[in-house]
Amino acid sequence: MARVVVFDETGGPDVLRIVDEPTADPAAGEVRVRIEAFGVNPLDAMTRAGTAPLPPRLPHARIGCEGTGVVDAVGPDVEGLQAGDPVLITAVPDMATGGTYAEYTVAPASRVIPRPAGLTATAAAALWVSYSTAYGALIEKAGMRPADHVLITAASGTVGLAAIQIANQIGAIPLAVTRDSAKEEALLEAGAAAVIAGDRDDLVETTRRLTGGAGADIVLDSVMGPGMDETAHAARPVGGTLVTVGWLDPRPAPYPAVPITMHRYMSFEHVLDSAASRRIAAFLGAGLRTGALRPTIDRVFAFDDVVEAHRYLDKGQDGPGKIVVAV
Ligand SMILES: NC(=O)c1ccc[n+]([C@@H]2O[C@H](COP(=O)([O-])OP(=O)(O)OC[C@H]3O[C@@H](n4cnc5c(N)ncnc54)[C@H](OP(=O)(O)O)[C@@H]3O)[C@@H](O)[C@H]2O)c1
Repeated sequence: MARVVVFDETGGPDVLRIVDEPTADPAAGEVRVRIEAFGVNPLDAMTRAGTAPLPPRLPHARIGCEGTGVVDAVGPDVEGLQAGDPVLITAVPDMATGGTYAEYTVAPASRVIPRPAGLTATAAAALWVSYSTAYGALIEKAGMRPADHVLITAASGTVGLAAIQIANQIGAIPLAVTRDSAKEEALLEAGAAAVIAGDRDDLVETTRRLTGGAGADIVLDSVMGPGMDETAHAARPVGGTLVTVGWLDPRPAPYPAVPITMHRYMSFEHVLDSAASRRIAAFLGAGLRTGALRPTIDRVFAFDDVVEAHRYLDKGQDGPGKIVVAV
């Protein structure tokens, strides 16, 4: 038997409960992972609340799209993985049955990669979703290059912090956007070349000033909402690119009237592709080895306190970085 987080109806954090269930055996092509830690993502809160793009399969839905642990059993026809290997789970094709908020989960072997050496389980739990999203959006989608000015909204969020580090890793220039100028110092310490604060600066004017009048080569937008038009106008008017990855502001977003290239990026388009996953893993591994990438952890909760972890996410975190649950 193993402990698993499930929910029978959508709603606030209290709908989550921990139950005991038999552990499933891995089928052909699958591995069972003993989870050591998992990241708590905004998508999880949306899934729990019933506002995610894919509705949860109720009742008794599991939850959680990333996690790390140790391979505990290997199904037939799996090569290159054995019991005892520390791994990251890179994608959960069906959270309702394979969600990572659990002591054990079974996953396709193709969705599991070796855990980068030297990472603790809690740091590893803060890595994959945020960094693969920032990498995929900036490098694979927008083609970020050295010297590009990259405007990053919600820069103190986990995707934003990853984007700052990834831009620095390749020699691009990260311009961090926050609503709150009190976060300026922390963002500069996190590697931002400059900070644009909504309570102090005009976004478009300040971006133009910081880019010699040109505008940002790439805008990474985790917020959208009504502010997206202004965000798009901060991009270079000819040849600029805007990539949206998130929807932190759930209100409708206008279609910006600027002649820039726009992409919508969903990390599943890459993490379900083994070749792309290998590229992401290689890039992140290199950044971890050199110290360019340093997963930021805000707070670690115990497994029994998973409801508290969701309450903390819903109310708005105190600090920057990932909420992690240690199992
Ligand atoms: N496309 C994908 O595959 C993918 C993958 C991962 C995440 N996402 C999405 O990307 C978004 C960011 O994820 P995350 O993990 O970085 O989130 P996060 O860590 O929860 O981001 C928190 C930060 O976002 C800013 N923020 C929050 N609400 C805001 C609002 N209404 N307007 C402006 N800024 C706001 C705040 O910074 P300030 O107070 O400093 O402004 C806050 O510190 C989420 O919508 C998430 O669902 C998408």
